[in-house]
Amino acid sequence: MRATVTAHKDYVIAKIDPRLYGSFIEHLGRAVYSGIYEPDHATADEHGFRQDVIELIKDIDVPVTRYPGGNFVSAYNWEDGIGPKEDRPTRLDLAWHTSESNEVGIHEFAEWAEQAGTEMMLAVNLGSRGLDEARAFLEYVNHPGGSYWSDLRKQNGREEPWDVKLWCLGNEMDGPWQIGQKTAAEYGRVAFETAKAMRAFDKNIELVVCGSSSPKMPTYPEWEGTVLDYTYDTIDYISLHMYFDNHEKNTANYLAKACLLDNYIDTVAAVIKTTKAKKRSNHDVYISFDEWNVWYHSNEQDKDLLGGNDGWPHAPALLEDIYDFADTLQVGCILNTFIRHCDVVKIGCLAQLVNVIAPIMTVKGGPAWRQSTYYPYLYASQYGRGTALNLAVQCQGYDTEFASDVSYLDISAVESDKDGALTFFIVNRHPDENIELALSLQGFSDPSLKEQPHQTIIMDKVMAGHALDAKNGPNAEQVAPKDGQGAAIKQQILTASIAPMSYRMIRLG
Ligand code: AHR
Repeated sequence: MRATVTAHKDYVIAKIDPRLYGSFIEHLGRAVYSGIYEPDHATADEHGFRQDVIELIKDIDVPVTRYPGGNFVSAYNWEDGIGPKEDRPTRLDLAWHTSESNEVGIHEFAEWAEQAGTEMMLAVNLGSRGLDEARAFLEYVNHPGGSYWSDLRKQNGREEPWDVKLWCLGNEMDGPWQIGQKTAAEYGRVAFETAKAMRAFDKNIELVVCGSSSPKMPTYPEWEGTVLDYTYDTIDYISLHMYFDNHEKNTANYLAKACLLDNYIDTVAAVIKTTKAKKRSNHDVYISFDEWNVWYHSNEQDKDLLGGNDGWPHAPALLEDIYDFADTLQVGCILNTFIRHCDVVKIGCLAQLVNVIAPIMTVKGGPAWRQSTYYPYLYASQYGRGTALNLAVQCQGYDTEFASDVSYLDISAVESDKDGALTFFIVNRHPDENIELALSLQGFSDPSLKEQPHQTIIMDKVMAGHALDAKNGPNAEQVAPKDGQGAAIKQQILTASIAPMSYRMIRLG
């Protein structure tokens, strides 16, 4: 099959906010305990952080990490995680039916974030708690000193404030599973008053209000309209979440599910615009897509634990999806969708980062290893920063249950602001046909330059030829990228044969 694509230097979508490639660490399962933190591990430093995990995270270059939840935050007392570790209480976590030792709290997470080279994105509890705890937490984290909470921070060993910019006003408040679930109007009021108080402390922080937990929620998209009606001018982002599954074992349908994501983003972007017009506001609100991933492989095995039948275990192996090659392609398509919507989606958090529906897994006392989905995330984060281009794509499509004419070719393009390289992220969704790609580059040549840009392929990585259910494990990395072959660039046309069911990244210098 043939496909033609045109990239023009001036057909720009927007500049990508690097935080589009963020992630998430929740006090859930083994994300924290025996994930990022395992004091007895051979690679642990004096703070108890596994350095093998830090290295894998640093390679991705995760710009921002959301913490401490997730559902966990909605019944969490942040004060339980400060002060001497031996004095910290063990609590029952109602979200995941586990015990929380509070060995890791804000001081430890901040230390870890610094080591991992990632900015903190903190969530406040608007489920079981409210405005007062939120403002106290903000003061503890961001105030230099001379007040009750900031002086307590100093007493607990941290002199300088952490100066966290990004704050989430609760988590998934539309969900019946959430401790302290609210109606849109109840949440809108609480979120507005909390935002007002937090802004009274610091008007430069960025605030994220909860949108829908999924486009399947019965309250979507009225939820967004109501919440924004209450909060529009006091917040900066509305959060969306979405998880993907292939329960029906239909790969063609599965790989087209990014179309649902397209629609979700477009709809909420329209609600944002409508609210802005209704309010005659000059303020802009963007989307923080702060939970997304494939999540379904572990559903069955988690059933008993989540039902609470096994008591209140500490750090049980929950949500440990082991991803396959089909999921790798899916993650590639999702990332492409975010790049193509980078004018409205400014923040993205792959949920989550370690062990819990994660690209990085650990064996307690053993190695850390990369899931196959690690790679599309790594490439997007490393090479997808800059300006996204609006490509004209012509390729045959196929019909699914929920979308028609879904292009077999899924592609996005980013021109780097750093070195000018032009990177294409490509997925071929076809089960057995190659796509013969002819990609025309227009408007890039510059007569004033001796050497014209984008004449050389500087990197070509491909993930192809694997069974769709092929997976990685602690001892074998079966699904990993290789160098791509056969791509060429001649007279401003990039040609490449894109293998069936493959992920490919081609960079032009
Ligand atoms: O990421 C796992 C869970 O999914 C989060 O705790 C919650 O916010 C969402 O439902």
